[in-house]
Amino acid sequence: MEIQTSTENFKDADVQALAVAVFKDEKADAGVLQELDAATGGLVKSVIESGELKGKEGETLYVHLGAGGGLKAQRLLLVGAGERDAYKLAQLAQTAGTAARALRARNVKSVGLILRATNGDDERAASAAVEGALMGLFEPDKYRTIEKEERQIERLLLIAPNADDAALKRGAERGHITGESVNFTRDLANEPGAYMTPTIMAERAREIAEQFGLEFHVLEREQMEQEGMGALLSVARGSDEPPKLIVLKYTPEGAGQEENAPAGDGKGELLTFVGKGITFDTGGISIKPSENMELMKYDMTGGATVMGVMRAVAQLKPPIPILGVVPSTENMPSGKATKPGDVVRAMNGKTIEVINTDAEGRLILADAVCYAKKLGATRVVDMATLTGAVSIALGDVNVAILGTDQTLIDEVIAAGRDVGEKFWQLPLDKEYTRQIKSDIADIKNVGGRKAGTITAAAFIKEFADGLSWAHLDIAGTAWGDEAKPFRAKGPTGIAVRTLLRLIERTVASAAK
Ligand code: BES
Ligand code: MN
Ligand code: ZN
Repeated sequence: MEIQTSTENFKDADVQALAVAVFKDEKADAGVLQELDAATGGLVKSVIESGELKGKEGETLYVHLGAGGGLKAQRLLLVGAGERDAYKLAQLAQTAGTAARALRARNVKSVGLILRATNGDDERAASAAVEGALMGLFEPDKYRTIEKEERQIERLLLIAPNADDAALKRGAERGHITGESVNFTRDLANEPGAYMTPTIMAERAREIAEQFGLEFHVLEREQMEQEGMGALLSVARGSDEPPKLIVLKYTPEGAGQEENAPAGDGKGELLTFVGKGITFDTGGISIKPSENMELMKYDMTGGATVMGVMRAVAQLKPPIPILGVVPSTENMPSGKATKPGDVVRAMNGKTIEVINTDAEGRLILADAVCYAKKLGATRVVDMATLTGAVSIALGDVNVAILGTDQTLIDEVIAAGRDVGEKFWQLPLDKEYTRQIKSDIADIKNVGGRKAGTITAAAFIKEFADGLSWAHLDIAGTAWGDEAKPFRAKGPTGIAVRTLLRLIERTVASAAK
């Protein structure tokens, strides 16, 4: 899809359809809606007055205007946008997604999206609009041969009269990179286990490293053994697919690329993302019930999120280095598989009694966090589809965030607020660690029925000492069980945009 910007009046926009947000209870008696109303012979007012469109989020109303009217575009889509006061970048992105989906469904090829209520920040509004449109158009149907979505919007024109066109263009470019990277993550998450093995995941990481310019290396089983990654290896034991520990690194140009240079940004900081890459989670010997097990193909979404972020970082080129680490393996039962009761030793020497082989995510993250530290990580955000319990606590609305550095946690939450992704902090008091004390080893990998999301985080905390660390449990939010007007059912790409925003906020606060 080609993306263009315009600061001219929308009447002259050379597109098949115009799309515009309509706020709740808004009358077409001022501004853009009044102009549109005048150009369409009173259509907008009549639609609103008749009660056909109330301006609720997700509503749409589509009309053909025909030639010879006051608009060059011959079709108009009004999109309900909710309360005007609540209309932030998140709502703008959703409006764009709803518009793109609705117009593609009507076989429209070129769309003019009128940007409203940008609060003076044309750049971020343009970015949000393009992200929203690209995310809206993502369709997880690559394996369909019938009823596949073949229609395509070829051109998206962002229209913001009197805006700063250079800002619009910068925003559109950022939005293009971000939106495509979110969809890259969603595409990986959607792949069946057979087509997204650890080997294939590593191959996809190599491809983005080569295409966009990132350092890349993979630890094979032998190197994991040398590093003492007994926790990660214990999860991989039952699988015929070799495990991979994928590392992607971005270094800004001109900064410390020489050998022996510090790993970080010169101030010693190295912001690092670690993501769970279980390409299929059967539960292992503690096997899961068969109902809904097919969904466990998405248990590598944390890893896919890290890869999506790194893919975008390579193109957005922030002035600080960023590290990405993705431990990847299947979790399978077999004659070789780890048994409940086995004791394994993680890279930092801690011994773990594996009570339940289905609590595998924390095991692979333990070694990955240790390895990230070895690579110089100082601020670590890990992300994982880690616990079913998080869906019980927070549903599909909020990502759970926990950690040891309140400043980092607050920054992630604020970055999420900037882009419209919600995070809710759960406590991580040291009392919870008592639940993971083992009778025979240092710790055990499950903490009982109580506070499942917290005890999972308390486990990872055992490997995060010396780090500024935050943990995201995305098990409830990474998959949408139903379609929304602004996006298809399936992988959501949650947290990619937040983490990209976190990087921007980190850069901005360092400049102060
Ligand atoms: N990948 C699952 C968590 C999960 C469950 C994600 C449902 C999405 C939907 C994880 O590996 C797991 O199995 N967790 C167990 C932990 C338990 C054994 C302590 C769980 O949540 O049941
Ligand atoms: Mn599991
Ligand atoms: Zn899992």
